[in-house]
Amino acid sequence: MYVRSFLLLVLWLVGANSHLLKFEDCGSVKGRVVQVDFVPCGYLNIEFQMLETVQNATILMNQIVEGKPEPAPLPYIYACNQYDFYGLRCPLRAGGRYNFSLDLAQEEPEFHLKGRFTLKDLSAHVIFCSQFSFWFC
Ligand SMILES: *[C@@H]1O[C@H](CO)[C@@H](O)[C@H](O)[C@H]1NC(C)=O
Ligand SMILES: *[C@@H]1O[C@H](CO)[C@@H](O)[C@H](O)[C@H]1NC(C)=O
Repeated sequence: MYVRSFLLLVLWLVGANSHLLKFEDCGSVKGRVVQVDFVPCGYLNIEFQMLETVQNATILMNQIVEGKPEPAPLPYIYACNQYDFYGLRCPLRAGGRYNFSLDLAQEEPEFHLKGRFTLKDLSAHVIFCSQFSFWFC
């Protein structure tokens, strides 16, 4: 009975955390990443907190290949102009928490990568830079 309860508890804990990815910071300045939530073949949510207010932002994705960032273009460069796509509205206010979201059900075949996401203001100052492994499918 105790063993069973313990196993259920472990399963519950693992299940509850299984979507949070480990991420590395690669030079965040005006914001910081709080968590990266990943649902395989579903979506990616990069939750971040703003340390300063910015009026507008661009988003860049790179694929890290042998330690080097290679271009891996996203459909839209302006992060706030496509609310339906990225789920962000500008301005992004100091202290606020936001999710940058990406639909992952768009690539065939399944595509694994170490990705780097960089959100910048329009003066090209980095808001956040975060990298982690995930996949499209
Ligand atoms: C962000 O800047 C772009 C390019 O100048 C512009 O088209 C867009 O309307 C701006 N978005 C916001 C939310 O201000
Ligand atoms: C961001 O999304 C995660 C789930 O992916 C959710 O737990 C969190 O509350 C969201 N944060 C904001 C600021 O919407």
